[in-house]
Amino acid sequence: TLTPFKRICIIGAGYVGAPTGAVIAYETNFDVAVVDYNAQRIAAWNSADLPIYESGLDHIVKSTRDGISKHADGVTTRSNLVFTTDVEGSIDAADIIFIAVNTPTKTQGRGKGYAADLRFVEEATRTIAKVAKADKIVVEKSTVPVKTAESVRMILMANAHPGVRFEVLSNPEYLAEGQAVADLLDPDRILIGSLPTPEGLKAADTLVEVYSQWVERSKIITMNLWSSELAKLAANAMLAQRISNVNALSAICEKTGASVDEVAYACGLDHRIGKGMLKAGPGFGGSCFRKDILSLVYLSETLGLPEVANYWRGVVDINEYQKDRFTKRVISCLFNTLTNKKIAVLGFTFKKNTADIRESPAITMVTNFLSEGAQVAVYDPRARKQQILVDLHQARDDTVALENNLMICGDAYRACDGADAVVVLTEWDEFSNVDLPTPEVQTADPVALRRSTVLDPNANNFVPEGTKHKEEELCAVSAFLSALKVRNVKVGSPHITSDEEGLEGSRVRVPVTPAQTVPQWRIDWVRIARGMRKPMFVFDGRNILDHGKLQRLGFRVEVIGKAS
Ligand code: NAD
Ligand code: UGA
Repeated sequence: TLTPFKRICIIGAGYVGAPTGAVIAYETNFDVAVVDYNAQRIAAWNSADLPIYESGLDHIVKSTRDGISKHADGVTTRSNLVFTTDVEGSIDAADIIFIAVNTPTKTQGRGKGYAADLRFVEEATRTIAKVAKADKIVVEKSTVPVKTAESVRMILMANAHPGVRFEVLSNPEYLAEGQAVADLLDPDRILIGSLPTPEGLKAADTLVEVYSQWVERSKIITMNLWSSELAKLAANAMLAQRISNVNALSAICEKTGASVDEVAYACGLDHRIGKGMLKAGPGFGGSCFRKDILSLVYLSETLGLPEVANYWRGVVDINEYQKDRFTKRVISCLFNTLTNKKIAVLGFTFKKNTADIRESPAITMVTNFLSEGAQVAVYDPRARKQQILVDLHQARDDTVALENNLMICGDAYRACDGADAVVVLTEWDEFSNVDLPTPEVQTADPVALRRSTVLDPNANNFVPEGTKHKEEELCAVSAFLSALKVRNVKVGSPHITSDEEGLEGSRVRVPVTPAQTVPQWRIDWVRIARGMRKPMFVFDGRNILDHGKLQRLGFRVEVIGKAS
């Protein structure tokens, strides 16, 4: 069995390495060092403002890093997580070393545009070989093509200090951004691939022990090294393929009047197909799907399997087609010209609940709008302004248009003010409609008024209106409470206040106070409509809006996978 306080080093303080290290530190007694040669990134991990936004990550990092109240019971624990640029020292001190460095698509040389660039993996491997003075277990955490562990092993053996032995394991990461902490705390499965030698199996057992401190043993799967490596690329390819399936169907839906949500829903009910990853949208983004499928395409080609390569290439091709198709739809609805029109883009990240914009469809779409001569105003609740500019600069050769025609706004209203169209590209909760009618809608829509609950801002109380019966009132209150939860408002317990009519005329009162955190209010589409030019278009790239309500407000709504 493991000695307590076994030391772990994670090379690469990115989206995978840092949260993984933090969760290991949180769930075990091991000392974890997350190392990176990027000093700025390490400084950010050591600061109060962490460089990556993930729900729950702040607490896990700060409690383990600073050694304060690790769990909710407030027990003070020792600090067992460090972020450091001392790559060599941390490798030397560790028993288990995870390689969690980036493996982007090669931009030059053989396999350019497809193959995974393994130079960072190689560099990290060489550093390990150079530094290690005792036996180490080296764990491939990065996503790599099959057989990479063979190269890692060869490099380690060729450069090892005399007598030092290495075992190489494959342990691919399946976390999805936006839910990284939840995925790490409660993964579907943990794969551990090793050579079938006694030393290989022993190393695998050591890693099993690490994970089994918080992951159910039945979810930890050991297998052959090559299966484990391929199982990662395979899973991403299959997931991305589902999105390309549904996006290809969305094009047929738009031509025929079928609705892609209905089609996807019907297909998803077949348990063999399943419900996940069947949401049509502006195309998949993120740092992984595209690069990993291209890596699989290249792998197939190098294995002399061109048909297999073409098959998987089709998944990426449909994704490019989808981005292009959505851009063209915006242009054609706006009478085939965007010149001097203002397009508001709501959402820039590749999906909600992350600040990450790598490979986001928004990059392609905003670039296309700018090329058509549009003025583009972008608002995203989390994406960093500087990163948006950097990525758009990279995607465009014409930086003048970028500077003159692009605006990055601090809120949705400013982005939409005077706009000809709003294009929703990320499914952030704050963009979708709350069921609650806004005051403006209450006067405009008598049906909504009858159903409505009324806010009394002075009393900080909600009084369900127009109902006499206790049960109806409680129903209205609970519907209201669920709407409020989304708005990040603290809600007290409902209580009944009797008036002179006795119980019959009682009112349910719910004390309401804004939460301590910055409230994430949903945007008010009435206000957006007021600020826009006419005619007003909304392109709902994620199908998250209440289209009936938008139409009543005078918008023309265009949805992916629905005929206009
Ligand atoms: P990232 O770019 O966020 O982080 C990688 C870090 O490694 C960078 O900070 C870089 O400076 C550092 N680095 C590179 N070479 C180094 C070296 N030799 N020594 C020290 N530090 C070095 O990348 P990421 O998103 O965390 O992805 C890492 C790997 O995990 C990739 O293979 C990716 O495909 C895979 N993966 C990513 C996700 C995801 O959601 N982002 C999920 C599963 C798997
Ligand atoms: C994905 C996988 O889900 C992870 O399991 C994997 O570990 C990771 O890649 C990786 O290898 O790096 P991630 O890219 O973070 O995770 O995000 P996803 O939630 O998979 O979304 C990817 C893209 O697909 C987003 O742009 C999203 O909007 C889009 N998507 C997703 C759809 O268009 N429709 C869907 O139904 C689901």
